[in-house]
Amino acid sequence: MKVAVRYYSKSGNTKAIAEAIAEGAGVTAVSITDEPKLSERVDILFLGGAPYANIMAPELRAYAEKLSADLVCRVVLFTTSNWSRRTVNALKKSLRAKGVAVEDDYFYAHMTRVKARANPAKEFAAKMIK
Ligand SMILES: Cc1cc2nc3c(=O)[nH]c(=O)nc-3n(C[C@H](O)[C@H](O)[C@H](O)COP(=O)(O)O)c2cc1C
Repeated sequence: MKVAVRYYSKSGNTKAIAEAIAEGAGVTAVSITDEPKLSERVDILFLGGAPYANIMAPELRAYAEKLSADLVCRVVLFTTSNWSRRTVNALKKSLRAKGVAVEDDYFYAHMTRVKARANPAKEFAAKMIK
């Protein structure tokens, strides 16, 4: 089974969770700024980002727009924020509208609890790829 972890992170919180998820899934986390489009078809794509001024980063929106059901079998979302779940909710809506399967369950870490959430993120990833 092919698994990929992709994220967008300005200040490192989502990156830290992406790396924990990648460790749990046995792969490497890659920033969408380094790889702006998924280069090969994957079975599970862990995709994460955060809200800034109440919207997801335009970079992440643009990345999601390039995804299709041909490229990814199932998306599992993760996010960090101060309070908002807007990024996961918006991604769920836009990906599902295009026919991309998105898990209901997602991983959340509050921005002040990123370190404490690393192990749970790892366990979440291991559970989602079973
Ligand atoms: C300019 C700015 C705007 C933000 N706006 C929001 C927001 O609207 N809602 C929220 O819950 N968190 C907001 N946050 C908190 C970030 O979403 C949070 O720190 C997140 O963990 C950042 O992820 P990153 O370190 O991966 O960039 C904001 C942070 C910054 C710097």
